[in-house]
Amino acid sequence: MGRELGRSTPVGENARVPHPQSDAWFDRARAVTPGGVNSPVRAFTAVGGTPRFMESGHGAWLRDVDGNEYVDLVCSWGPMLLGHAHPEVLGAVGEAIARGTSYGTPTTTEVELAEEIVARTPVEKVRLVSSGTEATMSAIRLARGFTGRELVVKFAGCYHGHVDSLLAQAGSGLATFGVPGTPGVPAASTAATLVLPYNDRGAVEAAFAEHGTRIACLITEASPGNMGVVPPEPGFNAFLASTCRAHGALFVSDEVMTGFRVSRRGQWGRDGAVEGWTPDLMTFGKVMGGGFPAAAFGGRADVMARLSPEGPVYQAGTLSGNPIATAAGLATLRLATDAVYARVDEVAATISEAATKALTAAGVPHVLQANGNMFSVFFTEATAVPDYATAATQDTEAFKAFFHAMLDRGVYLPPSAFEAWFCSSAHDDRAVQHVLDALPAAAEAAGAVR
Ligand SMILES: Cc1ncc(COP(=O)(O)O)c(C=O)c1O
Repeated sequence: MGRELGRSTPVGENARVPHPQSDAWFDRARAVTPGGVNSPVRAFTAVGGTPRFMESGHGAWLRDVDGNEYVDLVCSWGPMLLGHAHPEVLGAVGEAIARGTSYGTPTTTEVELAEEIVARTPVEKVRLVSSGTEATMSAIRLARGFTGRELVVKFAGCYHGHVDSLLAQAGSGLATFGVPGTPGVPAASTAATLVLPYNDRGAVEAAFAEHGTRIACLITEASPGNMGVVPPEPGFNAFLASTCRAHGALFVSDEVMTGFRVSRRGQWGRDGAVEGWTPDLMTFGKVMGGGFPAAAFGGRADVMARLSPEGPVYQAGTLSGNPIATAAGLATLRLATDAVYARVDEVAATISEAATKALTAAGVPHVLQANGNMFSVFFTEATAVPDYATAATQDTEAFKAFFHAMLDRGVYLPPSAFEAWFCSSAHDDRAVQHVLDALPAAAEAAGAVR
């Protein structure tokens, strides 16, 4: 619980919380920054209204520049597993900062963070970078360099950062090549990317049957959270791993979002460790940076040995393994005990069950999907959401009404219907109750737009 946060005044029915300071800052921001934000989803484009400019966060709570307080169910899009301003993480960061901020040399904390990652996951060697995008971009380059092949397979609805070749949309049929998902990406960048429907074994088999000898790697979110939470069907990741192996392609499991969040050992701890398979390469980010820019890719020692300076595949970074970021990440991972995961799981279960109960009571068609402590609510008439095409059937107007009703009641949800909700171990009973109290009216608001 925060020092001064967590005392939000209850907001009355349909009240709109004033936010003149956020309005003013948004105007200033738009004058100097495209859309007023440094990452698109923050702009509230999908839900309308003014994005809140946050000035502080403590525990489960955020406070905006107008002094409004919110229980945070975004957690910086995943990293804040322990909540905001955790005293021991701040302590580790403070000690590191007092010694200096960046040296461009090896440091001991980098080694300790890498050891922590190797201890929790099946990767044998790891390279630290500064963002999840860098991690996936570098993993793809390494997979291509290792195999001497060019094609990459990905799934529609899986997001791996803004890497040119991975910003591909599905082509016109099964096992056809991707087309750029955004202007600015050359057709040549996505022409070597096959985009398949998620959870579709037949599509994977067809793609490998036709192009198997040319496929460098298949990259997948270990359990997708970027189209809302769409867990792999049982055995799907094992199937992907064995299909890749059979065709001499590398299996790249992107755990930027799930790594060290859905369990101590990430999604791999929930399937691979149990079923007895390992990815060839893995990518990490978010939680392992403890709220700072740190990410990583790693995997089989023989594959990682192809990386510069040991091998010929080039990869580098001025701030890679930054001492402040690695101190925050190391402190976070060391504090992420079984008790922490048990609490996050419990909070997620309580909030997700209450959300579906409130929406059911208000007659709002929806599907709740969860993968451990990551969950999301799809505002759809479908009975299950196995892939992006089904996720896209959502009633985004209903979500919009729901989102704003929650925001007005002091609960900060992801400002898009296609995102996971994130909790932290700092979500204490009072914070959880605050969310539960807000849900019925928000569900009514969603029901009213139908
Ligand atoms: C699964 C996954 N991979 C990669 C990324 C990209 O990470 P970053 O935003 O740090 O570049 C994200 C970001 O949300 C992600 O969820």
